[in-house]
Amino acid sequence: MDKKTIKDVELKGKRVLIRVDFNVPLNKDLKIDDDARIRGALPTIKYAVDNGGRVILMSHLGRPKGKVEESMRLTPVAERLSELLGRHVKKLDDCIGREVKKVVSEMKDGDIILLENLRFHIEETKNDPEFAKKLASLGEIYVNDAFGTAHRAHASTEGITRFLKIAVAGFLMAKEIEYFEKALSDPPKPFVAILGGAKVSDKIMVIENLLDKVNAILIGGGMAYTFIKSEGKEIGSSKLEPEKIDTARTLMQEAMQKGVKIVLPIDHLISDKIDANSNTRVVETIPQNWMGVDIGPKTVDEFKKELRNAKTIVWNGPLGIFEISKFARGTEDIARFIAGLNATTIIGGGDTASAISRFGLKDAMTHISTGGGASLEYLEGKTLPGIAVLNDK
Ligand code: 3PG
Repeated sequence: MDKKTIKDVELKGKRVLIRVDFNVPLNKDLKIDDDARIRGALPTIKYAVDNGGRVILMSHLGRPKGKVEESMRLTPVAERLSELLGRHVKKLDDCIGREVKKVVSEMKDGDIILLENLRFHIEETKNDPEFAKKLASLGEIYVNDAFGTAHRAHASTEGITRFLKIAVAGFLMAKEIEYFEKALSDPPKPFVAILGGAKVSDKIMVIENLLDKVNAILIGGGMAYTFIKSEGKEIGSSKLEPEKIDTARTLMQEAMQKGVKIVLPIDHLISDKIDANSNTRVVETIPQNWMGVDIGPKTVDEFKKELRNAKTIVWNGPLGIFEISKFARGTEDIARFIAGLNATTIIGGGDTASAISRFGLKDAMTHISTGGGASLEYLEGKTLPGIAVLNDK
């Protein structure tokens, strides 16, 4: 990692402004469904407190588009964080303004406050310099631990660093960068990527970037059918992006030229509708009016063959519609299989992380990213703005 971290700075008595990604899923009763992102930030928060910092946390939640949305307040997050830390976290009602300044000025070493949802101000996502300056004025040291939001050039992730000279990575950010960096620059081989999810269009740049690095790419999920179609095969009413058929064909050719094996599903669980009460069958050729909703057992075996000797595995995107239990088999079989391998297993955030968590395999993977969009952009080889602006070592 070529960026400075929180360990490189003196925190005692300093106001430490930490950008975290507490954008967690809330259910309709505003209870947190998955607190992985809050847990992920604990080491940085504890370290700052233990070293005498005055901790000011800031995050967004959802996309309130510049308006105060009662359902997107960070109150449930502050409660959960208090429970996890075993100490009170004071949640403020705004993230800037006179009242916030007053509370911050009265903080003592080791205090923790959480500012209200940054996106209640439209200036946050617009990366407005005046807003960034107001946020910056609250702290003396800026720490970015929000890997999940590092692909956004917003006031709290990018603009703010123009006003605070000390801008370093937190432990979660550093850990995420280290795992992805190692996989992309110096992976123990064989290196196999598993790609799934609904759309080819979301993964084109990932495939292009990975073609120079991996030994094989296993493709499942909705995106597989556009690839299968590009080989002239029938896919019934499965998910198709007609305008990406040529791209899929080109990617397959490029892979062949580079000696990268692309493995597509050879059988499928098909269904007559996307519903738990649908009719299903396993087939090799998808008939009309049926759609593929999961990879079939022969495909699972093929994928296992490729994965068995892998030393590095990166997985982004589920292999079927796992949210419906009867369509989850392929994703679960592969998850259980890689959980038992002697390999570095890196799981992209978002849906893939949810799937792993649903199967109870969270502790069996080497690294589960807290970033969905961010991990995807990292795998695309992009420079993430929230990382680029941090102080170099
Ligand atoms: C995420 O959940 O991917 C991050 O928190 C970023 O959220 P956003 O897509 O609304 O910018």
